[in-house]
Amino acid sequence: MKGVIVLATKEMVTKNFGEGKWKEALQKAGIDKEPMILPMSDIDDQIVMKVINALCEVLNLSFTQVADAFGDYWVNEYSHKIYQVYYDRCKTAKEFLLKMDSVHVASTKTMANAHPPRFEYEWKDDKTLIMHYKSSRGLIDFMVGLIKGVGKYYKEDLKVTKLDNERVEIVFPY
Ligand code: HEM
Repeated sequence: MKGVIVLATKEMVTKNFGEGKWKEALQKAGIDKEPMILPMSDIDDQIVMKVINALCEVLNLSFTQVADAFGDYWVNEYSHKIYQVYYDRCKTAKEFLLKMDSVHVASTKTMANAHPPRFEYEWKDDKTLIMHYKSSRGLIDFMVGLIKGVGKYYKEDLKVTKLDNERVEIVFPY
């Protein structure tokens, strides 16, 4: 996983829960000395998962609660520092989510070793979109948290439901 995701997680935990909790989680995950991380760095997926699971324990939150906290922080705070242009191009949550497949390809194009998640889109009816998650990482709960964050950013009351480990249903209010 790219360092940018870990850096965003670290900032979310530090700001919302305190630096001590981040340090505690790293210790629990068996990381004695935190390495220097850059947005482009490659962090072993297994280590990322260990840190996320340790965060659940340290913060006393479920995996989905950590995923929701990350999604909210990434969409409403962190990503604006680097990726504001993607938000400026879209006026609604629907437009933004429909661009997510190409945004993941574009934003990782110049990053060596990136394996961005891919998304496929299926309309159930004119208000109901099913987003298919294509990734070997099994982080669909993060996808759900991120989509909820998009609803908050565009001030739209989205109904977001995980259907299974590969599909999320989104009902738009319009
Ligand atoms: C401006 C907005 C966004 C940008 C620039 C962005 C970019 C990225 C980047 C660079 C990664 C790391 C990829 C890698 O390590 O190979 C990533 C991971 C991820 N992104 Fe986004 N992202 C954005 C918003 C979203 C949204 C709204 C969703 C939900 C639909 C989403 C879903 C995910 C998931 C689930 C991962 C974890 C990796 C995986 O599951 O394979 N992202 N994103």
